[in-house]
Amino acid sequence: MSTGRYKILVYGCQMNIADAERMEGQLQSVGYTRTEETADADVILINTCCVRESAEDKVYGKIGEIKKLKERNPHLIFGIAGCMAQKEGDNLMQRAPHIDFVLGTGKVQELTRIIAEIRAEHSPVVDTVIGNTIAENLPIARGGKFSAWVPIMYGCNNFCTFCIVPYVRGRERSRTPEDVVAEVRRAVAEGYTEVTLLGQNVNSYGKDHKAADFADLLRMVDEVEGIRRVRFMTSHPKDISDKLIDTIRNGRHLCEHIHLPVQYGSNRILKAMNRVYTVESYRERVRRVREALPEASLTTDLIVGFPGETEEDFAATLDFLREIRYDSAYTFLYSKRSGTPAARMEDQVPDDVKHARLNLLMEEQNKISRDINEKLAGTELEVMVEGESKNDPAVWSGRTRTNKIVLFPHGTEQAGDFVHVRIDRAQTWVLKGEIC
Ligand code: SAM
Ligand code: SF4
Ligand code: F3S
Repeated sequence: MSTGRYKILVYGCQMNIADAERMEGQLQSVGYTRTEETADADVILINTCCVRESAEDKVYGKIGEIKKLKERNPHLIFGIAGCMAQKEGDNLMQRAPHIDFVLGTGKVQELTRIIAEIRAEHSPVVDTVIGNTIAENLPIARGGKFSAWVPIMYGCNNFCTFCIVPYVRGRERSRTPEDVVAEVRRAVAEGYTEVTLLGQNVNSYGKDHKAADFADLLRMVDEVEGIRRVRFMTSHPKDISDKLIDTIRNGRHLCEHIHLPVQYGSNRILKAMNRVYTVESYRERVRRVREALPEASLTTDLIVGFPGETEEDFAATLDFLREIRYDSAYTFLYSKRSGTPAARMEDQVPDDVKHARLNLLMEEQNKISRDINEKLAGTELEVMVEGESKNDPAVWSGRTRTNKIVLFPHGTEQAGDFVHVRIDRAQTWVLKGEIC
């Protein structure tokens, strides 16, 4: 057993959080303990993201900071994992020789072996081969108390022209339904009542092994004894089938929230993005979702400033936003990712134009979010208590099944409890109310 302290810094999406929980689990299983102070750690690991340039810049900043710690403590082991590790490989070490190891996205299970190797041999390690197999039965040190991340598949086959993810996460690999359900059962036995099933495109689940599709898997997870809420992300609009929509409608614990990234609101740009659906087919899917699940919240991702975007394209996107009326949207400035087809496209949009369009998009969405939330005033919603609100310890923060944040005065309830709250006020990002 090793004795030492570790610190893992995590950037990027929920996939990276789930991977980091498996890294922590392994470190703890060989005797390491967690420290909150980076300066006190014997092992520092950064689990990185490269989806946009800004994500990479943050990591390079951190790598620079850790150089000073390494100079003070030559026994410190410093590793880079995740998507940027996969993308850059040993370039990272050339740029920053104080890095001891680079661990690719398919090598989470090798973490403790590699650290032991570095301890014994003191030579740097780079391991970024992505295989076809999925490492199962890894110990998991979950961050949340009541809500668990459960990856159901890894990788992506879609190759949207702007996106680096398929290059750094490899092809789609689905876990077996037995492995997913077993993980959910274990989580419930440990006290978790909510799970979020994760994948870059969860609707493609099972296309490789054919043992179950995503709707089948949802049904199996819904039936796990003790589960209260099942969430999932991300759904690709091309694969959101009637079977899936009906499964959610008929489910007991399947939450009525669908994150359905549209990315853009004009067919010309959607085609250039290789999103393989049209504005019309997307609209039809939303119609079907809303017909079957009138209470459901719908959220999205949008990118502005994709190469060749014109004023007309952007105006069409604003119109589409007004038409669909998402509960909320994550809006991004297009970021050129070298190696992707869009990075080689002509007519890159100037930064000032991108920023101006992003602001307009956010303004429009904020109005819509607020308007939708205001219509919830007077309703009673089931809320899972998550903890004290950030700004006021006398106020609890929780979430509805539709994934909206609700703030309400502290009562006798505890974090993890389910309560009913009558909504009396709404803001763009939160609802406020009282327990009823
Ligand atoms: N698989 C999910 C899907 O297809 O919607 C999304 C995964 S990606 C990690 C999250 C979001 O990042 C995408 O939906 C997209 O809006 C955004 N994104 C990806 N590449 C980007 C880029 N090059 N520039 C800006 N945003 C990007
Ligand atoms: Fe990226 Fe597209 Fe795959 Fe999502 S579906 S991860 S946006 S390539
Ligand atoms: Fe980033 Fe990798 Fe997720 S690039 S968004 S951490 S899949």
